[in-house]
Amino acid sequence: MKSELVDHVEFKYHNLITDRFPTGFDIIFCRNVMIYFDATAKRRLLDQFYDSLKPGGYFIIGFYDAVTNLVDDAKLELIDPTARIFRKREIVNSNDDLAVT
Ligand SMILES: C[S@@+](CC[C@H](N)C(=O)[O-])C[C@H]1O[C@@H](n2cnc3c(N)ncnc32)[C@H](O)[C@@H]1O
Repeated sequence: MKSELVDHVEFKYHNLITDRFPTGFDIIFCRNVMIYFDATAKRRLLDQFYDSLKPGGYFIIGFYDAVTNLVDDAKLELIDPTARIFRKREIVNSNDDLAVT
């Protein structure tokens, strides 16, 4: 990563299983970490990542994380299968119905 970017990064230790999540992220990278987790933990973590992303935010996983089949397409749209990039769908509230765009 370029130093101009790294200078703006805040580094913290965070246990993805036990710690609570901040919200409001534009992008989440989680590369080659969920390989250690079982399906239950992966599903819980995917829900937490979803809640932490802004609508339209991006979620990028590693090649070996093997969660693509666990991702709820109604929530996270797979926009680049090769690079494993998902985008949080925007929920629009219209006429008391929830519409997914
Ligand atoms: C294979 S390394 C991948 C490191 C880096 N993400 C990459 O792609 O180069 C797996 C990493 O997952 C971290 N890890 C394992 N369990 C974790 C957990 N519960 N919470 C946060 N990180 C965890 C390990 O500390 C290790 O740094």
